[in-house]
Amino acid sequence: MLKGRNLVDPEDFTLEELESIFKLTQEIIENEEDFSDICHGKILATLFYEPSTRTRFSFEAAMLRLGGQVIGFSEPGSSSVAKGESLADTLRTVGAYADIIAMRHPNEGAPIHGVEYCPVPLINAGDGGHQHPTQTLTDLFTILDAHKRLNNLTIGCCGDLKFGRTVHSLLKAMSRYENVDFVLISPHELQIPDYLMDELKRKNIKVQEEERLENVIDKLDVLYMTRVQKERFFNEADYVRLKDSYILDLEKLKDAKENLAILHPLPRVNEIKIEVDDDKRAWYFRQVKNGMYVRMGLIAKLLGVR
Ligand code: CP
Repeated sequence: MLKGRNLVDPEDFTLEELESIFKLTQEIIENEEDFSDICHGKILATLFYEPSTRTRFSFEAAMLRLGGQVIGFSEPGSSSVAKGESLADTLRTVGAYADIIAMRHPNEGAPIHGVEYCPVPLINAGDGGHQHPTQTLTDLFTILDAHKRLNNLTIGCCGDLKFGRTVHSLLKAMSRYENVDFVLISPHELQIPDYLMDELKRKNIKVQEEERLENVIDKLDVLYMTRVQKERFFNEADYVRLKDSYILDLEKLKDAKENLAILHPLPRVNEIKIEVDDDKRAWYFRQVKNGMYVRMGLIAKLLGVR
């Protein structure tokens, strides 16, 4: 039963619960009209303390397409946060007006703290360099869309694996499925955090670390490209040195499998050349659209309207 629950961490839901969200998402895609009023009278609040295009707009579009309404801020300076209001008080207050809240916050762990005070379901829409569980729902649904399975896969994650919260959440989530191997492609300085590597080792997950994408691209079923996260670097010089570590182009794809699925949470800077967009292996814009549908499924489940 997902009604009334929070989503803070990608492992908050069981595999069966995830499957039920994906099943509902597929039903929505196939018969959107049937769902156009199921959230009538309900309000979603989007509290974004950090910039966003996809996550905020897809949450808002999702609620509007379900017949509900939306309030919120995209800039905390326009709310009483600017006057020093605590996160706890903001959530208590907004939770008095809205039926469900999606929050993005720069502080890692902010939603874990937030659920203590939030009177309605709270969805983590990204917390610092930590986790981004609704991106992961989108990623899993897109992998399912491309490969029709979530097991028996070799998944390559490439780029900024240190600060990229979407990769952290994807690794946690996909490590729960059978026979999933990871190839982690990054410069030494941008490898995944130790806590996450320890967790993968504890679960006996097969992990290969590699610096050159060309050395491993032929074995991948999924290639998850990421942006180097400029906003999380402590100094500009390191960012400038590392920002162009990986640029995917058609030449690099010549050894890749025919049914490789290239995903990217976006925004992209220059890590995927535009020439790749028309390749049938490019799934990242379909992933964008899936993100809205999967959030429709999630909202419907947490509100208990389906
Ligand atoms: N994927 C993602 O989180 O994009 P935004 O930062 O634009 O929301």
